[in-house]
Amino acid sequence: MINVADYVDAAREKIAPEVWCYFEGGAGDEVTLRGNVAAYERWQLRPRMLVDVSAVTTATTLLGTEVASPLGIAPFALQRLLDPDGEVATARAAAAAGVLMCVSTLTTRTHAEIASAGDGPRWFQLYVVRDRQRTLDHMQEAREAGYSALVLTVDAPYIGRRERDVRLGFETPPDLDPPYAKLSELTPELTWRDLEWIRAEMPLPIVLKGILTREDAELAVEHGADAVWVSNHGGRQLDGVAAGLEALPEVAEAVAGRCEVYVDGGIRRGTDVLKALALGADAAFAARAFACALAVEGEAGVAHALSLLQDEIALGLGLLGCTSPQQVTTAHVQGTPS
Ligand SMILES: Cc1cc2nc3c(=O)[nH]c(=O)nc-3n(C[C@H](O)[C@H](O)[C@H](O)COP(=O)(O)O)c2cc1C
Repeated sequence: MINVADYVDAAREKIAPEVWCYFEGGAGDEVTLRGNVAAYERWQLRPRMLVDVSAVTTATTLLGTEVASPLGIAPFALQRLLDPDGEVATARAAAAAGVLMCVSTLTTRTHAEIASAGDGPRWFQLYVVRDRQRTLDHMQEAREAGYSALVLTVDAPYIGRRERDVRLGFETPPDLDPPYAKLSELTPELTWRDLEWIRAEMPLPIVLKGILTREDAELAVEHGADAVWVSNHGGRQLDGVAAGLEALPEVAEAVAGRCEVYVDGGIRRGTDVLKALALGADAAFAARAFACALAVEGEAGVAHALSLLQDEIALGLGLLGCTSPQQVTTAHVQGTPS
């Protein structure tokens, strides 16, 4: 295993197809799923020479949380389908590496169990479910577990139709029983007004995950979001939308430094992260890269994937002529948006 692609291949071999479809697949014709990866090939890095890069750091701060890398672990559901320790294995690896982990509402481990994996930078992803009391109870439990930001996913009023799951009959096994919500319980009623309610219940910085347009980026800032996370949910929701990387410049431009900006979708390489930083992101996130590593070797796999990507980011920064993620600017990238 020398890169993420090796983990992707090995995971596909190891996990039963009727389970792997859920992790690998996207919605509809998977145009957006493929587009997420392809977008990175349309941009080229513009390195600067004769810069002293003898001391390179990948560390940065996101919403006041110190992290070892500008690449975090995006929330992904049902991790016990891939490893018996599930989210706790991912949390242990992330904490040891000092990398930010965002824990899904559809976690198969409780927040208390994840907290016991050790101190590490950790945010919590919220899906609001139809029964608001259940959401309140969930937020309360998350609050006690010490997360430092809340990531509200806004692109899932309904679950996208993922045809691989339909064909292979994927269903969450009853014994997994996610403690806080089920896929079928998400509410389609959420509006901008609900942000106030969430903020009152959980006074943490709020990240809006799933923003793809300048219009919504503007509204997010107006409603006091602390960060917007450009994402198409890994191509799993509305097929035919822009790749994360392609939507990033318009969102970053609309935000104009008024809050932090993140991006995800299709990240498999450290150089992908550098392109995201150059196009206006403060950080990038990946889900499938780490899901594959978790599937293949559990906690050790996630730890290894984190260190491979961390090394790629550090090497890339040095070769780009930058000594930290903050030094990467739009001048470090050129390309043609699709
Ligand atoms: C198997 C799987 C489960 C996911 N579950 C969630 C989730 O529970 N909440 C959420 O906000 N996003 C979820 N996502 C979306 C990811 O957070 C992220 O936006 C996307 O997968 C990034 O693309 P990548 O997988 O190519 O890195 C999930 C993605 C995958 C692949």
